[in-house]
Amino acid sequence: MSMKRLRVLVLVCSTRPNALGPTVGTWLTTALAPTARTLDVDLASVAIGDLHLPFLDEEEHPARGVYQHEHTRRWSETVTGADGFIVVTPEYNYGMPATLKNALDYLSAEWAWKPVGFVSYGNTSAGTRAVQHAKQVTSTLRLVSVGSTVALRIAEAHRQGVFQPAAHHGQAAVDMLEELVRAGHALAPLRDLNGDGATPGPLPGSYVRRLRPDDGPHVTVLQRCCWVDEAIANDTLRLPALRETPDQVQAWLAEWHTTGLWHAGRLLGMIRTIRRGGTLHIGRLAVAPDLRGRGLGRWLLHTAETRHQGCDHLLLTTGTGSVRNLAFYQKQGYAPLPAANSGEVSLRKDLTS
Ligand SMILES: Cc1cc2nc3c(=O)[nH]c(=O)nc-3n(C[C@H](O)[C@H](O)[C@H](O)COP(=O)(O)O)c2cc1C
Repeated sequence: MSMKRLRVLVLVCSTRPNALGPTVGTWLTTALAPTARTLDVDLASVAIGDLHLPFLDEEEHPARGVYQHEHTRRWSETVTGADGFIVVTPEYNYGMPATLKNALDYLSAEWAWKPVGFVSYGNTSAGTRAVQHAKQVTSTLRLVSVGSTVALRIAEAHRQGVFQPAAHHGQAAVDMLEELVRAGHALAPLRDLNGDGATPGPLPGSYVRRLRPDDGPHVTVLQRCCWVDEAIANDTLRLPALRETPDQVQAWLAEWHTTGLWHAGRLLGMIRTIRRGGTLHIGRLAVAPDLRGRGLGRWLLHTAETRHQGCDHLLLTTGTGSVRNLAFYQKQGYAPLPAANSGEVSLRKDLTS
């Protein structure tokens, strides 16, 4: 389960002058605002008309992600930054509007593993045929449809000439957002796996990526659990990794280059590095207790060591009572330095050119 604040894009599809779409979009975002606040969701509204997307004019298949035009790059950035979508669509001739199909066709990986909900409107069908039509396309793009829908019959949604859907429609919209957020969090590992910079890890299905400040909650849990053994081995609770608050963890994640090993949304291990002068400092090597003895620590250490560019030696520190760590690091070519602080020992590995 990811803890990241989700960004949900409300996509208003109709572009005709005096279209009903913007009114439906405003009703929706107003109805959802309190729930969005409670669920920690950023709700952003985008009108397809404002994107100024001509009919698809890119030469390459979108799956390649090679975009020639500024309008495509902007659209790609917007969709990449979103964790889920609510599509506000009319029904045109029993189908989705061409504007929606065109906006979907422009991109590929940007849509993958993000939840989508539909708010449709129309005459007798309340736009539901447009939704069925759109789903055939969105599922191809690996957008994941939520079950909750909002379907508005235009005549019934108007009271005294004003667009005012019934309370149950507002509730349906809230239900949709709640489901969308649950799905958005649950799909986060798949988005991660597909995301920029993720590479396969040493265990089947695992992957590695740089940790960001918003991974702070996962890192806090992992290091508190892993450093309990260090506390026992060194007979002290005065270990930063054991005591740091999530805010403190977020602060150093912004500064250090931290590699995280993940599987299905679980942080299995990590290691951090920072270059200072000719020294590559390495620290916070952690592997979840149930996965020790499988070579993951060694794998993480070797991955961290590849960041040595511009450095002539590697430096790390452990507790003087951490007998297992000391043996492990020495086996990996690190030599203990004379102790500077009581209770801690630094180990150095010189790099040969
Ligand atoms: C080109 C066109 C086709 C339409 N086809 C349908 C349709 O198949 N089913 C339906 O219920 N309403 C249909 N309508 C009526 C629309 O639901 C209604 O005009 C709605 O306001 C359109 O959304 P918009 O104002 O945001 O463009 C159609 C309207 C247009 C302009």
